[in-house]
Order: sequence, then C-alpha cells, then structure tokens
Amino acid sequence: MQTVLIIGATSAIATATARAFARRGDRLYLVGRDRDKLDQVAQDLTVRGAGAVQCAVWDLADTAAHPALIDEAVAALGGVDIVLIAHGTLPDQAACEADFQVAVTELAINLTGTLSLLTHLANVMAAAGSGTLAVITSVAGDRGRQSNYLYGAAKGGVALFLQGLRNRLHGSGVQVLTIKPGFVDTPMTAHLPKGGPLWATPEQIATGIMKAIAKGRDVVYLPGFWRPIMWVIRLLPEALFKRMSL
Ligand SMILES: NC(=O)c1ccc[n+]([C@@H]2O[C@H](COP(=O)([O-])OP(=O)(O)OC[C@H]3O[C@@H](n4cnc5c(N)ncnc54)[C@H](OP(=O)(O)O)[C@@H]3O)[C@@H](O)[C@H]2O)c1
Repeated sequence: MQTVLIIGATSAIATATARAFARRGDRLYLVGRDRDKLDQVAQDLTVRGAGAVQCAVWDLADTAAHPALIDEAVAALGGVDIVLIAHGTLPDQAACEADFQVAVTELAINLTGTLSLLTHLANVMAAAGSGTLAVITSVAGDRGRQSNYLYGAAKGGVALFLQGLRNRLHGSGVQVLTIKPGFVDTPMTAHLPKGGPLWATPEQIATGIMKAIAKGRDVVYLPGFWRPIMWVIRLLPEALFKRMSL
C-alpha cells in the first residue's frame, strides 16, 4: 500500500491510472478543479479497492496556491510515495497565433503551472529522500510542428525541466519520470478524427505508467512504438522538416 497524490485527477489518463493504484489498495489524494467530477472519480476508486480517497479542489493555473495545495496533500497522506501530474489543455493553435494572451493562458496551465508544482514537490520529496514524481508531457514536445507548437513548446519545456530536475535529484532517492504519450482517445482529443494504429486508450497508457514507475524508468514513450517514431522525427533535417505540412 502506497500513498499517491494525483494532480489533474479527473483527466481520463489520470483516472485510468488511479484505478490501477486503487486495485492494489493505495491511499489516494485527488486534486482537480471540479468538485462533482472529483467526487465521482473518488466513489469509483473507493469501489475498486482504494485504501482511502480524499479530494481537494484547486485551479492549477493559480501558482500562488501551490505550496498550500502540496502541504495539505502531503499532510493528509502522512507523506507521499508517488505523485502523478496529469492536468492539461490542448490549446487552439490558431487562436494562440492570433492573440498572445490566449497563449499566456494556455502556458499558465500547461507550462508554468506544472513547473510551479514541480518546484515545490521536488523540495518536499528531496527532503523526504524518497518517492516518485511522474509527469505527463507529450511526444508533441519532442519537435515543434505548425499545427500545435504552442502545446509542443509547453510540453517540451516541461520535459526539459524534468531532465534537469532528474539530474539534480539523482542520488536523492527520488525518481523523476517523464511520460510521453502519443495520441490517446480522451476528452482532450474528442474533436479529432479517431482510429488507426497510432491511437491508444487511457487504459493502455495507465498500464505503461504503472510499469514505468515500478521499473524506476526515467523517460517512457507510450505506447512504446512512439520512441522509434520520435527518434526518426527528431533526426529529420530542419531543411526538410520545415517544408512538411505537419
Ligand atoms: N489525449 C492525448 O492524446 C494526450 C497525448 C499526450 C499527452 N497528453 C497529456 O495527458 C494529460 C492528461 O490528458 P487527457 O488526455 O487525460 O485529457 P483530459 O481527460 O481532457 O484531462 C485534462 C485534465 O486537466 C484538467 N485541467 C485543465 N485545466 C485545469 C485547471 N486550470 N485546473 C485544474 N485542472 C485542470 C481537466 O480538468 P476538468 O476535468 O475539470 O476539465 C482534466 O482533468 C495532459 O497533460 C495532456 O496534455 C494527452
């Protein structure tokens, strides 16, 4: 039985992962912005075997509130073994190009909000000398594309921050896990055409997250076929890549 803090707990990927924690009897602390949705998730997890489930409502773009959020969660759990950061939005790229204030709002949730949480969590977990910080970024952060480079910049920024944090915390007893899913069928992608071999379910991503935590991995692509795909995409020369309509 472990203690697990899930930030962005109403996300489809987070909920699927939370069910895996619940099945083994873990004690869970769920953070989200919607009380009703959180309560529904909590009920579901309780039925599935969670040792205990507590919920807290926060707007995760409000970085000033993050120290209190984390302190309350850690105190309620009596120490935290695993943190999963899963919140996010898929920005309207065209709107971000037309108005930088839209981009700023998106970056507040996808980039600075996540970095703020990580800053406080890293200090708490380093002081404890143990635990896992698991953070969902995206393959979109591996290379900028015209169709979603605001989102890609946020996810790539988080991935780079995690790389440095992992380097800093090496030897501290804290695992820093960067999770890079490809296309996942969730509410975030509800407006996109679905189907085909590149699409995964939240449950498939959850299984991969649980394995990566258990194995103490640093970076995981989910499903795993995205690792070679993104290796090739990163290798494409810029002179060629800039001509592609991606
Ligand atoms: N779906 C994909 O194809 C895909 C691919 C790669 C990476 N990812 C990443 O995976 C993570 C989970 O996404 P998902 O696909 O599971 O999408 P999702 O079901 O739409 O979940 C997004 C979550 O973020 C929460 N959220 C957004 N803004 C918030 C705010 N200001 N304060 C608090 N919570 C906020 C949402 O809360 P509400 O429930 O209240 O709206 C929701 O729980 C995200 O980081 C996403 O970028 C997704």
